[in-house]
Amino acid sequence: MGRCPSCGAWETLVEELRAAAATGRALDLVVVDGKRTDVVQLGEVDTSGTARIETGIAELDRVLGGGLVPGSVVLLAGEPGVGKSTLALQVAAELKSNAPVLYVTGEESLEQLRLRADRLPKVPAELLVMAETRVEAMQAPWLEYSPAVVVIDSIQTLRTDRAESAPGSVTQVRECAAALSNAAKSQRTALLLVGHVTKDGAVAGPRVLEHLVDVVLGFEGDRGHAFRLLRASKNRFGSTQEVGVFTMTERGLEGVPNPSELFLAERRAGAAGSCIAPIVEGTRPMLVEIQALVASAGYGTARRTTIGFDDGRLALLLAALDRKSDVDVLSSDVYVNVAGGVRISEPGSDLAVALALASSQLNKPLPADVAACGEIGLGGEIRRVARIDLRVREAIRLGFRRVLIPAGVELPAAIEKEADLIRVDDVAAAVSWLRASSFRE
Ligand code: TYD
Ligand code: MG
Repeated sequence: MGRCPSCGAWETLVEELRAAAATGRALDLVVVDGKRTDVVQLGEVDTSGTARIETGIAELDRVLGGGLVPGSVVLLAGEPGVGKSTLALQVAAELKSNAPVLYVTGEESLEQLRLRADRLPKVPAELLVMAETRVEAMQAPWLEYSPAVVVIDSIQTLRTDRAESAPGSVTQVRECAAALSNAAKSQRTALLLVGHVTKDGAVAGPRVLEHLVDVVLGFEGDRGHAFRLLRASKNRFGSTQEVGVFTMTERGLEGVPNPSELFLAERRAGAAGSCIAPIVEGTRPMLVEIQALVASAGYGTARRTTIGFDDGRLALLLAALDRKSDVDVLSSDVYVNVAGGVRISEPGSDLAVALALASSQLNKPLPADVAACGEIGLGGEIRRVARIDLRVREAIRLGFRRVLIPAGVELPAAIEKEADLIRVDDVAAAVSWLRASSFRE
């Protein structure tokens, strides 16, 4: 069949070979290999063996929940060029374990791997490396060296004799991952699988792996910017709330304990169309600069272009501004950019975006010591968002003395004392505050 009868897309069906036909005898499975798996009571399960191995990379350990769990499988997914191989190699370099790391590359030659390692600090000369794409070939070294961690770069290049389709196909990827994951569990090795995804997540590979692995890490970032964000979308051993922040430098990835400083480094205070938004990723607050440009439209429909911000949300904010305040933006071209290559995925920056838009349209810069947080609803009302206390504290830490927040939010007295909190209940109020404000350094 060329066309999927379910979703209607063309050429998306993938051949899968059927395993040996079932015999049809009831409960045959129970006696297949004569081995019995014991049933035990939950309380008797021993967890003392699950000590974690620290990777030595603080931002990664934070996301993993303290380190790699022996016998677990971690998928590190991201677009090509984002830095997956670099991170994997740095794990190999920093790992806090006496047992060795085995780094299997199916993408690069050993020479290329060596050249990359030479750029990074501290990759040990003893690191075990292997250029191989056949899963079966990993059996011997795995048993011989008993590595603490095996890195597979990447899962899409592997193939196994158990499946006949081409490397990278769904069947191959799944069979290889299943075989490796069994080996990891039986040898108590932590397995780090590198997987490529494209911008729209189109490559099926990593998607089919998500239920097979224990932890799914997504590595995000724009190749044009140095900033990288590591998120767990699934974690059987920890929270999915933490994010890791890195910058890509000449000497590999460096953790960024205080991302706000990084994002605000190039800010030009006093420019119209710029507003600072304290956002929260997981449990980490960070300040980002929202830039907006409202320009008179040429012929035809007005353009809306966003980088790092959701198009749908922008449309909503423009409509709310137009109907609920006296700023006219609907007929103009509108550009919104989140500086530094950050992608905002939460509504807490709505108010800052609206203020940046109004500031650009009115050609009136916001005061340099102002930040704003709050969600904007369809009625133009400013709504509460999670962790306003964290956001305001971060703003204060970076020297912002005035913060616009949703009306009705109560914050601890200590915060109230340190910052001038401006409570606004709708966009109209925020815009009239902007009109009345005067720029001060
Ligand atoms: P890479 O880890 O190969 O990405 P992936 O495995 O996800 O495809 O690295 C991506 C980019 O990082 C590459 O274009 C070169 C750059 N890079 C640095 O800027 N500094 C470094 O120290 C290294 C090793 C790479
Ligand atoms: Mg790579």
